Amino acid sequence: YDTKTPQSVTSDPKSFASDSVRKRWPVILTGAIDDVYRAVLRATDPEAQAEGKRIIEQIGALKYEVEHDRKLTPIPDDGFSDEIKAYNKELEDLGTPNWFDVPWLFSECYMYRRISTFFALTKHWKNYDIFARQKLDTFRSSRPAVLELASKYKELVEQLRADKDVTHNPEAEKLLFAEMFEICLWGNATDLSLLANLTYEDIQKLQGAEARKAAEKNILVNDLPRAYDILKKAQAEGKKERVVDIVLDNAGFELYVDLILAGYLLSCGLATQVVLRPKSIPWFVSDVLPSDFAALLSAIANPRGLYETASDDEKLQDKTPEPLPKSAEQDLQFLFQEWAGFHAEGQLILRPNRYWTAAGSFWRLPHENPDLLEELKPAELVIFKGDLNYRKLTGDAWWDPTTPFSEALGPMGPSSGVNVLSLRTCKADVVVDLPAGKDEELRATEGGGGDSGSRRWAWHGKWAVVCLSEGH
Ligand code: F6P
Ligand code: MG
Repeated sequence: YDTKTPQSVTSDPKSFASDSVRKRWPVILTGAIDDVYRAVLRATDPEAQAEGKRIIEQIGALKYEVEHDRKLTPIPDDGFSDEIKAYNKELEDLGTPNWFDVPWLFSECYMYRRISTFFALTKHWKNYDIFARQKLDTFRSSRPAVLELASKYKELVEQLRADKDVTHNPEAEKLLFAEMFEICLWGNATDLSLLANLTYEDIQKLQGAEARKAAEKNILVNDLPRAYDILKKAQAEGKKERVVDIVLDNAGFELYVDLILAGYLLSCGLATQVVLRPKSIPWFVSDVLPSDFAALLSAIANPRGLYETASDDEKLQDKTPEPLPKSAEQDLQFLFQEWAGFHAEGQLILRPNRYWTAAGSFWRLPHENPDLLEELKPAELVIFKGDLNYRKLTGDAWWDPTTPFSEALGPMGPSSGVNVLSLRTCKADVVVDLPAGKDEELRATEGGGGDSGSRRWAWHGKWAVVCLSEGH
C-alpha cells in the first residue's frame, strides 16, 4: 500500500533526515533525560524515584544507540500488543536496520513509540508526559501573540453576534476566512522539535499580525479559496450537519490558534461541529495530547496564574513576569467561555485514536483502519495540521515537486471519499504541487540549498503550502 516513489532515508547525506538523526534527535533525547531528571528530584516516593532513574537509563541507552548508529531493536509489549506487533513486524521487514540507514518516517515514529514504553511499563510514570513542561513554557512565552489574538477574536465574535457587515459582504467574508486560516497555518511554524535552533524571540516575531501579512508571499500553494467554496456551498444548501475535522499537530500556541479557527468556523456558521483529533502518547515533542487541551483551557480560564507566576527559569534569573492588564484577562476569559460553551454543547469535541501514532504513512490508512476512514468521510473538510501529517499524507517520499497533491496522497486522494486540506509549514524534504521551476528558484536563494543538492529552503518552516484534495 506504500508509494513506489523512494522514501526519504537517513542515509542520504543531502536530506534533512540525515541531519535529524545525527544532530536533532540526540538533542531531543538529552532534553527528555533532563526533564525526567528534574521530575525524579521532585518525586518523594522511593519506588517512583527508582523507576524514574531506570527511565533515565533507558533514554540514555537509546540516545547512545542513535548516536553510535546501532541497530533498532524490537519494542517490548506495553499492553498495546497489536501496535507493538506492527512496529516490530515493520522493523523485521526492513531487515533490522541501523539508525543511519533507515526510512526517516518509520525511525522517527519508532523513537517516540519506544520512549513511550519506558513509561508505560512502570507503576508511577504511566501517564507522565516528558514534553509537558516545554509545551506550557512556549505557550507562556507566546504571550504577545496570544493576547493580540484574544482581543481580535473577542471583537470578531461580538461583531458576528451583532450581525454586522462581516457576514454580509462576500469579499470581506472571504478575506476574513483566509486570515483565520493563515493564522492557523503559521501557528505551525513554531513546533518544539525544531526549537533546537530557534530562540523564543524568533518565535514571537513569527507570531504577530504584521509578520503574518509579510509571510503571505511565502505560501507557495494556496487552495484556501476552494476550501471556502466547499464550506460555503454546504451552508448555502442548508445542510444541517456540517462537520470540520482537525487532525491536530502541536500543543501550546498552535493548539490555541486551532481553537481560534474552530471557534470562528462555529461562530460564523461555516461549520456546526468541529472534531479535534489529538495523539495518544507524547509524540514529536510538542504534539497535542488530550491533557494539553485541558491544560490550555485551564490556563486561559485563569490567565493570571499562567502569566504572573514565574517559571522555573525566571525564578533562577530572579525575574518577575509583567502583570497582566485587566482587559487582556477579560479577553482570555471570554475565549474560555466561548470554547468551554462549544465543548459543553458537543459542537467542539476531542476524539483520540491510537492510529495517529502508528508508524506508517496515510497511504495505508484506508486499508489499515477502515473505521477511521469512515469517521472522516462525512466531514466537509478534514484539516491535517503541520509537517508530520503532510509527510504521512505524501508517504514522505521524493516526489517530483510538481506532482499534483491529490496524486501524492495515493489511496487518501480523490478515491478516498475524504476532502483533505493540509495546512503545512515546510520542515522536511518532501514537497509537491509546486509550479514548474519553483523548487529550482528557491534552491537558488540564499540558504536555499544551492549547489549542495539539498532542498534546504524547505527545512525550517519559512515556506508553507496549503493544499486541498477533493474526495467528494
Ligand atoms: O523537520 C523537523 C521535524 O521534527 C520533522 O521531523 C517533523 O516532521 C516535524 O518537524 C514536526 O513538525 P510538525 O510539528 O509541524 O509536524
Ligand atoms: Mg508536531
